[in-house]
Amino acid sequence: MELYRIKGGKRLFGTYKLSGAKNAVLPILAATLLSGAESRIVNCPDLSDTEAMFRLLRQTGCSVRREGEAAVVNSNILRSSELSASLMNSMRSSVFLLGPLLARCGQVTLSDPGGCNIGVRPIDFHLNALKQMGAEIVKKESALVCRAQKLRGADLRLPFPSVGATENLLMAAVFAEGETRIRNAAREPEIVDLQNFLKTCGAEIRGAGSGEILVRGTETPLQDAEYSVMPDRIEGGTILLAAAAAGGDVLIENAVPGHLMSLLSLLERSGCEIQRESGSVRLKAAERLRAAGYVETRPYPGFPTDLQSPFLTVMSLADGQTEIRETIFENRFKAAEQLKRMGARIEIKGQRASVTGVEKLSGARVRAQDLRGGAALVLAGLAAEGETIVENICHIDRGYDKFEVALSHLGAEIERMKE
Ligand code: EPZ
Repeated sequence: MELYRIKGGKRLFGTYKLSGAKNAVLPILAATLLSGAESRIVNCPDLSDTEAMFRLLRQTGCSVRREGEAAVVNSNILRSSELSASLMNSMRSSVFLLGPLLARCGQVTLSDPGGCNIGVRPIDFHLNALKQMGAEIVKKESALVCRAQKLRGADLRLPFPSVGATENLLMAAVFAEGETRIRNAAREPEIVDLQNFLKTCGAEIRGAGSGEILVRGTETPLQDAEYSVMPDRIEGGTILLAAAAAGGDVLIENAVPGHLMSLLSLLERSGCEIQRESGSVRLKAAERLRAAGYVETRPYPGFPTDLQSPFLTVMSLADGQTEIRETIFENRFKAAEQLKRMGARIEIKGQRASVTGVEKLSGARVRAQDLRGGAALVLAGLAAEGETIVENICHIDRGYDKFEVALSHLGAEIERMKE
């Protein structure tokens, strides 16, 4: 097992360049199944989740190779549309293959993607909408067999602006008969990136980023494409929160301020100085952070659930009381127990965390239990007095590309070690 050893108390200074967005590249990689051609995905981050997606694509028959910063996928020959339980369980985002494989092959067998550490994460919104588009879905033992000779365009309304369901249905609709409208669609920037990739391949889609997306089904095969993935706004938010926690002055050279509006206003409310340029964001940390009062996670453009745990760390160090309500996932306060071992004062009641800020956290041996909760523990270690050991950093490797290298570049004392 690998772990991080962090010597706290070092402020962060310098310039940081974001990697390509994990939550954009995963659906885009799945969408390469639609084209039957060669897709060159530039700015593809090197994560265990992207490696897992490469394995899934190879399992269906695609050839996938890395060329430096790019992933090159050729999907002209598909051998299988069976998504094995082991691969499905290796990564929840395997559910993104359902839409494109159904559109391309007419049949998909997938095991229940199962929940994960942060929640049950059902896929009922995906399945109900695909049935509305004419798919026949039957349960066979622990697998789901989905069939559709040809999907029909439909007027869909999501019960909740689910990111994954919006993306899956957008992909499924590309070759459907006629038009598909997705109402109450999720508005995340990663969905705009997926739309833009598919338009580069020749698909006819518009409206991503608004609550309503229109896809005009096409008979024309999609063509070769080269596409550069958007910068990772969640990585950017994590780095800004790291500087707020540890102190210092950090410039993120390729951040899109518009993607982080809710976080930036919270950081200003907490006393940090934020400079927004068209393609960069700079944060000067407050000498002493102020508590943010009441905060709740919301679908985009609200405060993102993926930054809730790193924000919990920062509020543990802020002067005063902060209430954080998690409205997206049912089990996303796992970092709190570990932060309390470092001296944080956090009380969890259901979907609410009550945080009473303290002057200082103390280094301790803690354990990552999910991706963003693990990042929150690293931020706490950067700010704490003394040494912190973060175990189980495989969770962090799922979503941050060489996290310790990037933080060391900003002046942090952090090293990756084998247990
Ligand atoms: C995506 O997950 C992201 N993952 C998550 O990031 C992110 O936290 C989440 O969107 C919300 O922004 C990727 O993009 C790969 P949802 P997704 O469908 O699509 C419920 C990270 O840390 N729901 O918007 O799974 C669901 O249980 C990860 O990078 C249903 O009930 O999220 C949840 O409570 C974590 N039925 C809520 O909706 C469904 O059919 C939002 O889920 C689908 C979802």
